Amino acid sequence: MLYIGIDLGTSSVKLLLSDEKGNILKTASRDYPLIFPRDGWSEQDPEEWKRGTLSSLSELLEGTDRSLIKGIGVAGQMHGLVILDENDEVIRPAILWNDGRTDKEVDYLNRTVGKKRLSEYTGNIAFAGFTAPKILWIKENEPENFKKIRKIMLPKDYINFILTGVHATDYSDASGMLLLDVKNRCWSEEMLRICSVSKEQLPALYESYEIIGKVKEEFGLPEAFVVAGAGDNAAAAVGTGTVGNGKCNISIGTSGTVFISSDSFSVDEFNSLHSFCHADGKYHLMGCMLSAASCNKWFSEEILKETDFSALQKEISDEGLGKNTVFFLPYLMGERSPINDTDARGVFIGLSLDTKREDMVLSVLEGVAFAIRDSFEIAKSFGLCIKESCLVGGGAKSPLWRKIIANVLGIRLNILKTEQGPGMGGVILAMVGAGEYESVKEASCEMLTISETVTPEKELTALYEERYIKYKEIYPALKNVFKTLR
Ligand code: XUL
Repeated sequence: MLYIGIDLGTSSVKLLLSDEKGNILKTASRDYPLIFPRDGWSEQDPEEWKRGTLSSLSELLEGTDRSLIKGIGVAGQMHGLVILDENDEVIRPAILWNDGRTDKEVDYLNRTVGKKRLSEYTGNIAFAGFTAPKILWIKENEPENFKKIRKIMLPKDYINFILTGVHATDYSDASGMLLLDVKNRCWSEEMLRICSVSKEQLPALYESYEIIGKVKEEFGLPEAFVVAGAGDNAAAAVGTGTVGNGKCNISIGTSGTVFISSDSFSVDEFNSLHSFCHADGKYHLMGCMLSAASCNKWFSEEILKETDFSALQKEISDEGLGKNTVFFLPYLMGERSPINDTDARGVFIGLSLDTKREDMVLSVLEGVAFAIRDSFEIAKSFGLCIKESCLVGGGAKSPLWRKIIANVLGIRLNILKTEQGPGMGGVILAMVGAGEYESVKEASCEMLTISETVTPEKELTALYEERYIKYKEIYPALKNVFKTLR
C-alpha cells in the first residue's frame, strides 16, 4: 500500500509518495507567489494552492498503480483565514499566518475581552496572525464579504475539501484559530459569540489521524481516504519523533518555531508560548517567530543578489563565531513570540567602516538563532529541561547555521537522515488512519532516523551567552521607535 503526504507551505506545496515503511518513492512540488497588498499584509490565493496541489499530484502518480494509494495526509501553513460562500466558492484571498493587519482587533481581544478570559476560553491570547482577529477584521472592513461567509476553513482544510468535498479540520490546526477550547478539544461557545460566528460556519473537528472521507471519484484514486491532517508544525513534529513528554523540535523555515510536546495541557503565566493540541491526540507548547530562513533568503537574494547561500556562508570563518559586533533583529514581518509586536521591523546595528558583508550575513544567521532562544528561554522558565532537539526546515541544511543555533541554545541538535518536513507527518498520520500503526507515537518513533548530532562547544556557548545578553537589549531600546515608523 502507498501513502501520500502533502505539505501546503507558504512558498510552495510539496508532495511525497511513500510505501508503508516510510520509504519515500517520489516527490513533486509547485511554487506559488505570496501577495503583500500593503506593508505587513500577507495573502495568498487558495486557487493557487489547489492548482499546485493537483498538478503535483498528477506528476507524483505518473507511472504508479493508482489503486495502491491507500491514504492521504495533508499538513498546512497554520492560521490562514479561508472563507467560502454558499456555493463553496472562495470569497477573497486567504489572509495568512504572517499578516499583521489586525492590531486593532488583537487589541480589542486582549484588552477589552481580556487576556485572562481569552486564556480561560482557549488556552491562548490573541496574536495578529491568529484566525479570530482576522474574522473580526473582515466583519469591520469588508462587511459584504462577512455576510457571505458560509464556511471558515484553514489552508490545509481547503485542500482536504477539494479532495473529499468534506468540511473538516483537526485539533492541532484549529488550536491556532483562537476559537477552540484547546484543553477540552471543542469549539469555544464564548469565542464564537465574540467573533459573531456560528458552529455551522466552522468545519467538523477530528483528531489528525482520523479519516474524514474518501477521495472524490474524479481524482481516480479508488481506494484512497483522507485523514484530517495537521498544522505544519504539529505534522513536522510527528515526522521528527517529537511526540511524548518534553520532546523538542526546532524548525527554521519561512517561520521559525520551537515546538515542545507534552502529554498534558499547560499554559505559561503570560501566554507567551502557544498552548495547542498536538497531532498525536495530546498537547504541545510552541513559540513562533515570523521570519526565520526568510531573513537569510531576503538578505542573500534581495539585497546581496546571491542565490548560492552556501557560497556566502563560506566567507565566514569559524574564528569569527561568537565575536561578531554586528547584530540583526529578524523582525521583517513584525514578530509573534514572544514579543507580540506587529510594529517591530528588521534592524542591523553595530555597523562600522570595517564591517564586511560576511559580518552582516553572519549577523542574520545569529539574529534568527537569538530570536529562537527568546522562545526557548520562556520554555525553560517554567521548568522544562531541554537538553536536545531535532532541527529541521531549510535552515537546518546549513552546517554553519546548525552550529550557531546549537551554541546559542547550548543544546544538542539532531539532524534527520532524510528530512521530509511536514509532508512526512502527513504520511504517518495517514498510515495511522489506515491502521498500519496503533498510534502516532509508535509510527513516528519507528520511522525516525537521525544522521548527525551537533554538539555545543563550551567556549563558543560562553561567547554566544555574552552576545545574547547584548542582543536582548536591542528590542526594548527600539520598541517605541518602531511605533513611530509606520
Ligand atoms: C505557527 C505559524 C507558522 C506557520 C508557517 O504558529 O504561524 O509556523 O504555520 O507555515
